[in-house]
Amino acid sequence: MTGLSDSFQRPIDYLRISVTDRCNLRCVYCMPAEGVHQLSHGDILSYEEIYAIAQAAAGLGINKIRITGGEPLVRAGLPKLIQMLSQIDTIDDISLTTNGILLAHYAEELRAAGLRRVNVSLDTLKVNRFKYITRGGDLSDVLKGIEAARSAGLNPVKINMVVIPGLNDDELLDFAAKTVAEEWHVRFIEHMPFNEGTSDSSFVSVSEIKERLAVLGELEPCSVKGNGPAKYFRLPQAKGTIGFITPVSEHFCFHCNRLRLTADGKLRPCLLSEAEIDLREPLRRGISSEELKKLIKKAVANKPRQHHLAEGHVPQDRPFSQVGG
Ligand code: 5AD
Ligand code: SF4
Repeated sequence: MTGLSDSFQRPIDYLRISVTDRCNLRCVYCMPAEGVHQLSHGDILSYEEIYAIAQAAAGLGINKIRITGGEPLVRAGLPKLIQMLSQIDTIDDISLTTNGILLAHYAEELRAAGLRRVNVSLDTLKVNRFKYITRGGDLSDVLKGIEAARSAGLNPVKINMVVIPGLNDDELLDFAAKTVAEEWHVRFIEHMPFNEGTSDSSFVSVSEIKERLAVLGELEPCSVKGNGPAKYFRLPQAKGTIGFITPVSEHFCFHCNRLRLTADGKLRPCLLSEAEIDLREPLRRGISSEELKKLIKKAVANKPRQHHLAEGHVPQDRPFSQVGG
């Protein structure tokens, strides 16, 4: 297999699949309180259609898949999709990003279906603040989900914390301390300022985060299994690790290895560009796997060099929750 690469010679081997645009939370920085316009059932790819796309992509050299949403666990029968995808020989890593609310319920079943690991989005460790940020969620569900994922052997469990000044940046030390006491792999993510509920200047840079963490001791570089742009460190004697993701202060487009599939079957070569190629309509017309591969190659050829957040360009056509982070 020769593998896929784009017009800037970046190898493309990672596909993020959004299985639903729906979510059981309404995080203030992600969605308005009333939610966003939802896709209807017929708009959404069936598991068979997702499988056909994943298989064609795998035939081109994609070997890692992440399932995203919305919240992927609100879609019925998700373990069945994981099980189907794990039948594809050349896919050697299947992971999931979830808000953790339903994770305790599904962890064992997901592991048995072939899921390797999970990322859990968690922006606060305070019960009331969690209710506020998620507009009604229960923190204890997520904490139980994290424990259940670990006991089910989903490994590593990574915790994604989007750092938003005035909202949760006073908890940086608490999250960091969790990585010392327990095997938590916490990733601090710079907030990309393009949603309602936060102002445009809402952003704490990773270099500032590192300065604030300095009181806890020196951060030793280390490595953690993953396919993304995080840089990992460990505090002295820590059981877990701390990762930093810098979409704003230092973009990592030069190393970008991914494509995204939206729940309604559009292939997006870049999270932060509107460009997309429809696969759903051709699939429903009955195109061959070879034709499907041609369309995937076309999307890869259209992958832009980098995003233009700094110039204020953010996609206007879809909410972030539809593109899967
Ligand atoms: N900036 C950075 N990260 C975000 N996420 C959602 N919205 C934003 C944003 N504006 C995160 C979620 C989740 C991941 C998929 O994307 O918290 O961890
Ligand atoms: Fe749901 Fe994630 Fe958006 Fe929160 S950030 S509303 S959990 S999709």
